[in-house]
Amino acid sequence: MPVEVAVTTAGAVRRGVVPAGEAWLTTARRLVPDAVVDPVAVDLSGPLKHFVVDVDLRVAVRPMVHGDLPDVVRWRSAPHVRRWWAGDGPATPAAVRERYLPAIAGDEPTRMWVWEVNGRSVGLVQDYRISDHPEYALLTPDPAAVGVDYLVGEPDRVGRGVGTRCLWAWAVHARARYPEVAAFFAAPDHRNRASLRVLAKLGFVEGLWFDEPQEDGTVTTVVGCTLDVGLVLGSDDDPP
Ligand SMILES: CC(C)(COP(=O)(O)OP(=O)(O)OC[C@H]1O[C@@H](n2cnc3c(N)ncnc32)[C@H](O)[C@@H]1OP(=O)(O)O)[C@@H](O)C(=O)NCCC(=O)NCCS
Repeated sequence: MPVEVAVTTAGAVRRGVVPAGEAWLTTARRLVPDAVVDPVAVDLSGPLKHFVVDVDLRVAVRPMVHGDLPDVVRWRSAPHVRRWWAGDGPATPAAVRERYLPAIAGDEPTRMWVWEVNGRSVGLVQDYRISDHPEYALLTPDPAAVGVDYLVGEPDRVGRGVGTRCLWAWAVHARARYPEVAAFFAAPDHRNRASLRVLAKLGFVEGLWFDEPQEDGTVTTVVGCTLDVGLVLGSDDDPP
């Protein structure tokens, strides 16, 4: 069955069938060659892959800096985050410094990023080659994949489509940084409906459930979700 892409731009919708071998994002870009900003994914979970050209909402993925740590403490302590991120233990200022400073300094393989929406920092995303974490690699289907964890920490920004936009911005950013990587991987708690829905909207496919030991000694049953980078985002060789 052919896959079709729709791009909403300035109130109009342009549609086109994805030619064999072309990434969905590449088709979306071809449909709006005159767009002033890149089309972004809205919902790729159904047969029609829906993108939008949105000139009013800009997302930046920037490296985390030392000065972000008070925000990180606040975000990690927010009830809607704690519910799904408790396994790392309490986010005291000391614990957050100990955890994130080495990554900020580039002294460990995990890379830390902050999402800015229209100039305001709203959350964080971390990514890593799964093969750099051998114990985790044993649990996951593809050690060659890049793993990702994320949160929108500002309570007033949650549940309004921001997480979907931000994670898409991360995916485009990560594709350029890991050009040889074929898959991105996330593993939310099986009860985390918002996170699972965001991943589905961006084209991640749910796979096996597995039990992930947490740093606090608990075990969480998570759903492995994989994004086929070539299928959805294409490669750097594709036309811009
Ligand atoms: C997960 C998270 C990043 C999503 O960001 P967000 O801005 O809330 O997400 P969006 O608004 O873009 O999309 C949420 C989707 O989930 C759906 N959703 C939310 N709660 C849901 C629930 N309880 N059941 C089913 N669907 C739900 C929303 O309806 C929306 O889907 P829709 O657009 O099809 O209606 C954010 O909620 C968050 O940071 N949560 C806490 C930390 C966390 O869980 N991180 C992920 C760890 S893997």
